[in-house]
Amino acid sequence: MRFQEHYRKTFVSYLEEKTSTKEPINLYTPISYILGLGGKRLRPILTLMTAEIFGTEYSKALDAALAIEIFHNFSLVHDDIMDDAPLRRGEATVHEKWDINTGILSGDAMLISAYQLFENYDSNTFRKLATLFSTTALQVCEGQQYDIDFETRDDVIIPEYLKMIEYKTAVLLAAAMKMGGIIANASIKNQDSVYEFGKNLGIAFQLQDDYLDVFGDPATFGKQTGGDIIENKKTILYLLAIKQGKAEERKELFDLYSIQPKDPAEKVGSIKEIFHSTDAVGQTKSMITSYTDNAFKVLESLDISVDKKELLRTFGENLMERKV
Ligand code: IPE
Ligand code: IPE
Ligand code: MG
Ligand code: MG
Ligand code: MG
Repeated sequence: MRFQEHYRKTFVSYLEEKTSTKEPINLYTPISYILGLGGKRLRPILTLMTAEIFGTEYSKALDAALAIEIFHNFSLVHDDIMDDAPLRRGEATVHEKWDINTGILSGDAMLISAYQLFENYDSNTFRKLATLFSTTALQVCEGQQYDIDFETRDDVIIPEYLKMIEYKTAVLLAAAMKMGGIIANASIKNQDSVYEFGKNLGIAFQLQDDYLDVFGDPATFGKQTGGDIIENKKTILYLLAIKQGKAEERKELFDLYSIQPKDPAEKVGSIKEIFHSTDAVGQTKSMITSYTDNAFKVLESLDISVDKKELLRTFGENLMERKV
C-alpha cells in the first residue's frame, strides 16, 4: 500500500495529461482554471486507495477518480454562484473571474465530461459506475436544494440538516470509495461497508466545513470566512446555538439571520460570540468526533487486512485535524 501523497501526485499528473484547453476557449479555459487551482483531491485519492485496498491496480481506477474530481469541481462552480462566493482555493471563483453564464455553461460541460469518463470501462463496470454516479449526482442536487431552501426557513431541525449534508456532501465521498470497490470487483458486502464508511466520514467532513467557514484562518482557508453567516446558512453551529441558547441568545440569532447588513463584519462578530457562549462550538466538535468514530466502527465490518483498515483509519484521523 502507498501513502496518500503518492496517490495525489499520480492523480494530478493524470488530470494534467487528460485536461487540455481547446476551442471554444471561453468554455474550456474556466474548466482548466478551476481544476488547476488544486484543492485537497480527497475524493480521487479515496477512489484510488479503495481500489488498491480491494486488491486491484489503482491505475485502473484513474478514470473513475477523474470523473469524481471533475464532478466535484463542477458542483463547486455552481455552488459558488448559488452561495455568491468570491473566493475558492485562495483565488477568484469562476463566476467572479468571468461571469455567471460562463460558470453555468463550463459547469454543465464538466458534468458531462465526468459522465463520459465512465465510457472507458467495460460495459458491465460502466453500468455499475454510471448507475451509482447518476443516483449520487441527483442526491447532490437534492442536498443543494435543501441547503438553499433552509436559508429562508427558520424552523429547520437538526435531523433535516443531517439529511441535507448527507446528500450535498457525504454521498459523493461514499460513492468515490464504492467506485474503487466496483472496479476491484469487491464483494457486495465490502462495497456497502466502504460506502457507509465514506458516508459517515463525509458527514464529519461537512460538519468540519461548517466550523471552518466561521473559525478557519482567512490566511490559509482559501474561502471567504463568515460566508455561511452572510448567506444565512442553517449550519450545524446555527442549529445548535438555537437549540442550546438562552431566550435572548436565540432572539439575537433570529434577528441577525433575518437581516442583510451593509457591513457584514459586525454581524459575523456577534454571531461568533453566540456560537461560543451557547457551546455550539464544543458540540459541533463532539459531533465531528462522533461521526468519525461511526466510520471507524464500520471499518470493523470490512473484510480486509488489519494494515489496510489502519490506512483508512489514518485517513479519517487526518481529516479531523484539517484546517483547510
Ligand atoms: C468543498 O470540498 C465542498 C464541500 C463539500 C465542503 P473540499 O473541501 O474537498 O474542496 P477542495 O476540493 O479541497 O478545494
Ligand atoms: C458544498 O457545500 C456542497 C457542494 C458543493 C455540493 P458548501 O457550500 O458548504 O461548500 P463550500 O463551503 O462552498 O466549499
Ligand atoms: Mg458554498
Ligand atoms: Mg453551498
Ligand atoms: Mg461550506
